[in-house]
Amino acid sequence: MKKISIVGAGRVGETTASILAQDNLCQEVVLLDVREGAAAGAALDIQQADTYFGSDTLVTGDTDPEIISNSGLVIVTAGSPRKPGMSRSDVLDVNRKVIEGIVDDVMKFAPDALLMLVSNPVDVLTWHAWKRTGWERNRVFGQAGVLDASRMATFISLETGYSVKDIHTMVIGGHGDTMVPLFRHSTINGIPVTEFLDSGAIQHITERTCNGGAEVLGLRKVSSAYHGPAAAIATMVDAITNNRRRILPCISVLDGEYQQNDVTTGVPAILGRNGIESVVEVHLDESEQAALERSIEKIREDLAML
Ligand code: LAC
Repeated sequence: MKKISIVGAGRVGETTASILAQDNLCQEVVLLDVREGAAAGAALDIQQADTYFGSDTLVTGDTDPEIISNSGLVIVTAGSPRKPGMSRSDVLDVNRKVIEGIVDDVMKFAPDALLMLVSNPVDVLTWHAWKRTGWERNRVFGQAGVLDASRMATFISLETGYSVKDIHTMVIGGHGDTMVPLFRHSTINGIPVTEFLDSGAIQHITERTCNGGAEVLGLRKVSSAYHGPAAAIATMVDAITNNRRRILPCISVLDGEYQQNDVTTGVPAILGRNGIESVVEVHLDESEQAALERSIEKIREDLAML
C-alpha cells in the first residue's frame, strides 16, 4: 500500500504514525489534524526519527483534508477523549459530529480507501461511519479487539509468568465494560489457558481486561492509553498491507453472524488487503453467547441515541 492517512494527530494518531513509519508499512504516512501545526510538527519529528530506524517512509502533516487524497487506508483517531470517571459512551455526542465531517472528507478525497475507526465509542462510530459512506461492509471497520486481546494476554502473562509471545487471546463484543474475553478460545502455545488458570484468576483477568483502558486513564489522569492502541492499529495495518489474512478481532458490521443484524461489534474476522474478508463464527457456549448479547445490547442503546 502506498499511502495511509491518519486523521487526528493526538497521542494515538501520532504514535501510530511513528510505528507505521518505523516498520515501513507503507511508502507514505499522512497526518491530518484541525489544530494548526500539530500534524505538520508531529510528522516532521517522526520523519527525522526515520534515519535512526533505517526507514524511508515519507511522513507529512497538514490541516487541509485534501492531503488524504488517494490514500489506500484512512485511520480515524480524532475526537474528544474521555476524562477519568467518564465512560466511552459519554463522548458519543461530540465525537459523532467530528466523525461526520471526517467521513465526508474521506468520501470526497479518498473514495477508494478502506476506513478504520478508532475514536470512541468505537463500535457505534464504526456503524455511523459505515452508514454514512454507504460502502460495502468489508471497507469500514473498527479497532478495539486487538487492543483488548493484547491487554488480556498481558494479564495472563503476568498471572502465569509465561512469555506473552506464546499467548494468543480473543476478546469479542463491544469496546466497553461488557466486552467478552474468550478464555476457551485463548491458548498458551496451543494449550488452552484454562489449563493454567483457576476461576479466581479468570475472574481477576476478566475484570482487569474489561477495565484496561480505564486503569491506564485513572493512573495517568490527563491521557488515555496510546502505546497499546497504536500497536493494535499497526497490527491491523500490517495484516492489511501485507494481505496476511490474519484472524483478528475487528469491529465489523454484522449481517446475521452470531444471530445479530444491524449492529457493529467486535468479532473474529479475516483481515487482508480488502479489509474484512469475512466474519469468523466460532462456536460459543450458552454463557458466552449470553455475554455477547448483553454487550451488544449496550451498543444498541448507544445506536438508538445517534
Ligand atoms: C482504551 C481507550 C483508548 O481502551 O478506548 O484505552
